[in-house]
Amino acid sequence: MINKELKALGIHGPMDGTSTGNKWFSNGEKITSFSPVDGKKIGEVKSSTKKDYEKIIKAAHTAKSIWAAIPAPKRGEIVRQFGERLRELKSILGKLVSYEMGKSYQEGLGEVQEMIDICDFAVGQSRQLYGFTMHSERPSHRMYEQYHPLGIVGIISAFNFPVAVWSWNAALALICGNVVIWKGSEKTPLCTVACQKILADVLKANKLPEGISSVITGNAEVGKWLAEDTRIPLISATGSTRMGKQVASTVAARLGKSLLELGGNNAIIITPNADLKMTIVGAVFGAVGTAGQRCTSTRRLIIHESIYDKVKKSLTDAYKQIKIGDPLDIKNHMGPLIDIDAVANYTTAIEKIETQGGKLLVKGGTLKGKGYESGCYVKPVIAEVENHYEIVQTETFAPILYLIKYSGGLENAISLQNNVAQGLSSAIMTDNLREAELFLSHQGSDCGIANVNIGTSGAEIGGAFGGEKETGGGRESGSDAWKAYMRRQTNTINYSDSLPLAQGIKFEL
Ligand code: UN1
Repeated sequence: MINKELKALGIHGPMDGTSTGNKWFSNGEKITSFSPVDGKKIGEVKSSTKKDYEKIIKAAHTAKSIWAAIPAPKRGEIVRQFGERLRELKSILGKLVSYEMGKSYQEGLGEVQEMIDICDFAVGQSRQLYGFTMHSERPSHRMYEQYHPLGIVGIISAFNFPVAVWSWNAALALICGNVVIWKGSEKTPLCTVACQKILADVLKANKLPEGISSVITGNAEVGKWLAEDTRIPLISATGSTRMGKQVASTVAARLGKSLLELGGNNAIIITPNADLKMTIVGAVFGAVGTAGQRCTSTRRLIIHESIYDKVKKSLTDAYKQIKIGDPLDIKNHMGPLIDIDAVANYTTAIEKIETQGGKLLVKGGTLKGKGYESGCYVKPVIAEVENHYEIVQTETFAPILYLIKYSGGLENAISLQNNVAQGLSSAIMTDNLREAELFLSHQGSDCGIANVNIGTSGAEIGGAFGGEKETGGGRESGSDAWKAYMRRQTNTINYSDSLPLAQGIKFEL
């Protein structure tokens, strides 16, 4: 099904999962990639051993001074060429993303588009690595600050965005003058191999050395090597809060920097002033898009009691229209979950909804029969719950949507929305200016992303992406997120012939 695409991406037969660029090697165990779409084996990748890891660190170490010495706009030019290749390969890579991860082809294409967009952004940014200048308190002195590369940046990414999240980090880290080492998800190893090959080709065509972009493959143990390694000043990790806490404490123990983008528990507040037609589209896409496996997926709807029954009916009617099946078939809205473990988590969550007092309005279940052989296709669920249930407080990576009723003023809805451990994305549906502004104010949403009349998922790369509380606090992608990939230095230059000390201190010899 995907052989033609794999060939076009240079993936033939079993692959090594360790690479410094064009060199591929690996001495660890075999990881088989199965497609959740049809359960078929797509390919095999060998994981990295500690020895393999040391090899890439060595290559990265040698490459980092060469790369950092290249002027930033010239580094931007390399990223521009990478973006151009992605444009050419968009449909092929988008199809691999869809087939290996299970998201719809449209969303696979969307993911590659995000890669292209961040490359464009990074090219512009490469000429804008601005520092401030400030006036010194001392005569004939100049003060300014500048940004230098950190060196090696470690990137840990998750299966749900197997190509885009790496590119957000890599494109910026590279223009900032860093070399990158990427550990992709072991659930989507071929997406990782494909991306690395595309970038490595560009680096090679520009006669750049090995080690500017490296890849390692494996489980949490491999992630730990990165997190513990004092040679890697910054670890950017995207994934579950559980994983993030481990990475954060390991990196903090060596006083390294971490950039964390972890779980969400995203809500849409639907007020009596909401445009319901728009609301339903936003809520359904947010909840079932990517089969509920985005960290920005809509998990909770907080609905005013005066419109609650109407919204409930429209939603349950809309759910009857959802077509589940092969994500490469454009008539389907929702593909499979990533694997059987994810299906088990989904099933357990549904049981918990009921035992904790929730009511299932749209019942779930695993789909069986023709087209569903992988065992990873599930039905989307809608449940009426209360916000404090333990299961509602937990991020379940599945298409389960919780309906929560609020009464009284908007502050009650905001309090429910904020009353979870996570703080990634949030939204309000309202045509009322006062409601919208209150939601966006300091008394409003406590999330890193707060939208008005847009759902919770589908952020553009131009804004800083990330969230508060258990979401980890990091910001990736647009705005000034580039600063996380550089170290700041304050410089003071004295061009007088005396040495006045700061704060007027007198010190005479
Ligand atoms: C993620 O789920 O890890 O806003 C990232 C969105 C996408 C990115 C999601 N642009 O849903």
